[in-house]
Amino acid sequence: MTARRAVAGAPSFDLVGVRRDLHRHPELSMAEHRTAKVVEGHLRSFGLRPRRLAGTGVVADVAGGGPGRTILLRADTDALPVQEVAGRPHGSVNPGVMHACGHDGHTACLLGAAERLAARPPERGRVRLCFQPGEEGADGARAMVRAGALRAPVPDAAAGLHLWIHLPAGKVAVLDGPCMAAVDRFEIRVRGKGGHAAYPQEARDPVVIAAHLVTALQTLVSRRTDARDAAVVTVGRLSAGTAFNVIPSEAVLEGTVRTYREATRRRIAREMRTLAASAARAFGARAEVAYEFQLPPTVNDPGLAELAREAAAEVVGRRNVVAAEPSMGGEDVGVLFGRNPGVFAFLGCANRRRGIVHGHHHPSFDVDEAALPLGRDLLEGIARRFLAS
Ligand code: NI
Repeated sequence: MTARRAVAGAPSFDLVGVRRDLHRHPELSMAEHRTAKVVEGHLRSFGLRPRRLAGTGVVADVAGGGPGRTILLRADTDALPVQEVAGRPHGSVNPGVMHACGHDGHTACLLGAAERLAARPPERGRVRLCFQPGEEGADGARAMVRAGALRAPVPDAAAGLHLWIHLPAGKVAVLDGPCMAAVDRFEIRVRGKGGHAAYPQEARDPVVIAAHLVTALQTLVSRRTDARDAAVVTVGRLSAGTAFNVIPSEAVLEGTVRTYREATRRRIAREMRTLAASAARAFGARAEVAYEFQLPPTVNDPGLAELAREAAAEVVGRRNVVAAEPSMGGEDVGVLFGRNPGVFAFLGCANRRRGIVHGHHHPSFDVDEAALPLGRDLLEGIARRFLAS
């Protein structure tokens, strides 16, 4: 029995052990040096030939038995500048760095899928395993694309998943259409005229103008965006002045805009410029807007989403494939979708009974490891179904 199991390729890869090892050794965006080595080591042990891209990115192809389409499976590998709560058995040994978003789990799931696919390659087509660095605001997906992750051959589809604390472990949600928002950043510089706090009539107070702008910017959502179309404008930083009795000459507002639709995104950017310039002019000052379009929305292809739900039903049972709300959070997986259909699944990882309830990026964030084999099977199942379809 033992010999037969070994011949059949009995699981040797320790999914939970690998996740714990990665969790203990988190690395910041684009500095995932150890992580990349760990990933390469496992891929080689599965008989695959990993390639390094963009410094700490790793890619490996599993070629099927015959020609066919290619699907890219993606995991992100980076951690966050967060100090993990103390006293955890597999807690981070790197002070101030923590896998507080579940990317350690994503990496383990994709390695698990890689093992299965390498042991029994699909009949036709090809699976590209893509371990992407720098998801947390470091533009890692774009770096991977520039380095050739989408070339030779060009993938026909892409899939990824995110461990999702908003769903209990054992549940999977795959949305149709937008599931994560576009992420943009803006900075508005209000240039007024400084002076003595007691003589505002001789100055052009940029603080008052900035205060007007903070509230006026909200109307880009509340009065200019269709109530059925989600958008968020947040001013996260507001800075001006050096003393209580001095009117400064400048104020700076910095913030983010989140949207699902490209048209809404472009309109808000355009109207923000008009609004800031006009409001400042009305108060006798000037305003400059620097607007950066950072990440596209993550939009699931309905056909591929349906295929992913079928794959999920096989893994967790049909009644555990549930609905979920799209998130206004951002993701750069959409960059790896390129122009092809892509799908991004939410893999439940909460466990109320065990206190695994803290949100992503929280110092107490954790995942129920029971979700890991489900994530592995889901990625494998999506790839096999796509290549067989
Ligand atoms: Ni994340």
